[in-house]
Amino acid sequence: MSELTWIEISSNALRNNIARLRSLIGKSTLLCACVKANAYGHGLCEAGRIFIEAGADWLSVHALHEARRLRQAGLTCPIYILGPLGTDDYPEALQLDCRLVVYNESDLPRIARAAHACGRPARLHVKIETGANRQGIGPGLLEPLCTAISENPHLMLEGCSTHFANIEDTTDHSFAEAQLKRLRAALELLEARGIKAPIVHCANSAATIIFPESHFQMVRTGIAAYGMWPSNETYVSFVKERKGGFVLKPALMWKSRVAQVKDVPKGEHIGYGCTFKTGHATRLAVIPIGYYEGYDRSTAGGHVLIRGRQAPIRGRICMNLIMAEVTDIGDVRTDDEVVLLGRDGDECISAEQIARWSNTINYEVTTRINDRIPRIITD
Ligand SMILES: Cc1ncc(COP(=O)(O)O)c(C=O)c1O
Repeated sequence: MSELTWIEISSNALRNNIARLRSLIGKSTLLCACVKANAYGHGLCEAGRIFIEAGADWLSVHALHEARRLRQAGLTCPIYILGPLGTDDYPEALQLDCRLVVYNESDLPRIARAAHACGRPARLHVKIETGANRQGIGPGLLEPLCTAISENPHLMLEGCSTHFANIEDTTDHSFAEAQLKRLRAALELLEARGIKAPIVHCANSAATIIFPESHFQMVRTGIAAYGMWPSNETYVSFVKERKGGFVLKPALMWKSRVAQVKDVPKGEHIGYGCTFKTGHATRLAVIPIGYYEGYDRSTAGGHVLIRGRQAPIRGRICMNLIMAEVTDIGDVRTDDEVVLLGRDGDECISAEQIARWSNTINYEVTTRINDRIPRIITD
């Protein structure tokens, strides 16, 4: 392979994760796999297709351009756009047969006009504010919005949803429980007015795994479908309650090749800012990956794997290059494979490990990997 960096995706791992999630939610709950952010870095169309073939029912994306790419790739499954649309985007979104999130009554006339032109009602999912204070409509405005949808022949209230604010970051789920209570109260208020959406959904991965009462008619799982736990706290909560038995398989490996091997004497500086000084004669491997490719510049104390051994990164992460010490590895050569994320022999670098080095979360590690790097399905 001539590529200098590439991503390997295990379709078996992705399939396995969908099967695991299915075993948690049962057959009658819809499984909506979240493929926004280039499928959390795994390749939008590649991962989307595998998820649907493996039994996911819906795909969710953030933006119209992602829905467009999925349709262009031939995917005919239900697509739910989670994010806001530009005012001119409604006709195309409806032509592409997407489900839309709504929380502003003022958006309805434009959506209704686009639906009329499209020749079928727009399927809308009202986002209810329950405590995240992100997208969503509060209690006072919810009923008028849902009534306006129900009374408009070009609009259909297909779903009601909310999103948890504090479920991954803690093993205390009282805030999530309070949100669930608010969601239930909102649904009851609507039902009392004769309004009932067929699909209620609020569970992200953490809620899907640890909070069965949040499953309703559909779950929206992202990170777990890619084989990563949402957080240590989610893992601990799960093990505490269920005592294990749920295995997720990470699907992504990030690889590159050694571009140059060089010997640097003791007392030399390495890279920008002269932040690292060699304490002994040092052999370095120069690797064509940097923050442009998505390897965070703030990564400190990290390593890559070469010949199944840990090679510590020396000096700053550059825009397109890093330098790793291979003094103790021996016989490293130009073109040798480098594993930035994934397994090589007995060694493994997880997204969680990289997240610790760069003070972030696994979500950010994989979603930041540059979209232009080829994604290759390996099994
Ligand atoms: C609205 C919404 N639903 C579901 C998800 C999936 O979350 P997770 O990856 O934690 O499963 C996200 C992800 O950010 C989201 O924004």
